[in-house]
Amino acid sequence: MYETSVGSLVFKNPVLTASGTFGMGESFADFYDYSLLGGVVLKTLTPQPREGNPPPRLYETPAGLLNSIGLENEGFDAFERRIKENNPFVSWGTHVIVSIAGDDEGDFALLSQRASRIREIAALELNLSCPNVHAGGMTFDARSEHVYRIVASVRERVEIPVFVKLSPQHDMVANAREAERAGAHAVTISNTFLGMAIDSQKRSFVFAKKFAGFSGPAVKPLALANVYRVAQAVSIPVVASGGIASGEDAAEFLLAGARLLEIGTMAFVKPRLVVEVVEFLEKYSQGGRIIPLQ
Ligand SMILES: Cc1cc2nc3c(=O)[nH]c(=O)nc-3n(C[C@H](O)[C@H](O)[C@H](O)COP(=O)(O)O)c2cc1C
Repeated sequence: MYETSVGSLVFKNPVLTASGTFGMGESFADFYDYSLLGGVVLKTLTPQPREGNPPPRLYETPAGLLNSIGLENEGFDAFERRIKENNPFVSWGTHVIVSIAGDDEGDFALLSQRASRIREIAALELNLSCPNVHAGGMTFDARSEHVYRIVASVRERVEIPVFVKLSPQHDMVANAREAERAGAHAVTISNTFLGMAIDSQKRSFVFAKKFAGFSGPAVKPLALANVYRVAQAVSIPVVASGGIASGEDAAEFLLAGARLLEIGTMAFVKPRLVVEVVEFLEKYSQGGRIIPLQ
């Protein structure tokens, strides 16, 4: 069994789903038993429901995916009500990690407190790649001091492990150091890369917001380099996210210094990929730990 841990939380293996690619958990139940995974990260929740961006929202490239979903979600109230009425998490037999975002620092503090009161939520992931409405719409991780402030205020309020998810558009080494200084238990490296699609026939941008998030196998070498750089710079665990498409890819991220892995885009292509990665790592690690390269 390839067991691993973040803070006091023990994971039966390092394989997790990535936020936004697993919905709230309902869609993959026909494909595999969730208890086979180390954990699942749910879609980012915000205080109010969000409709998300107008279509198109997805655009495929030869080795990657552009998305402009716009944080569509039911809102925290509806989520909480649903979980109180009929809690599916107990039956999943794996760690449930809730991803949160908001318009300002106060939203993160409030949602983290509310989420941590739901007993079956094992950890939080702060999605800092969303716009801070009080800072002219730049993302929370555009400034390292904002990263520090948000993480510190969340850590004052909750006991469960806090993962801080960063975007690759900003200085992830500096941000990861600030997250660590503020008491984060782990940093997730990373969210999607800034991308764009243009329709040459129509002479127009494909997405209403022009830019979109880029993910999938095309970003793997970039993510690998970022995971290595951050793992060399901080002592807290690094959670890798970016382009994992096979067991070998997963092993590469562990060799680069990651403690946990999140699998996103390629699970759309092959829903059972997560389980195949668990099985691969079991054999590859030969029951022991994978020692990161220096
Ligand atoms: C359709 C889609 C929706 C996503 N939604 C979220 C989200 O709600 N919150 C978040 O933190 N990341 C979100 N992401 C980013 C993924 O969690 C992941 O970090 C990223 O796609 C890189 O991993 P991958 O290449 O394995 O997909 C989304 C990605 C995709 C493709």
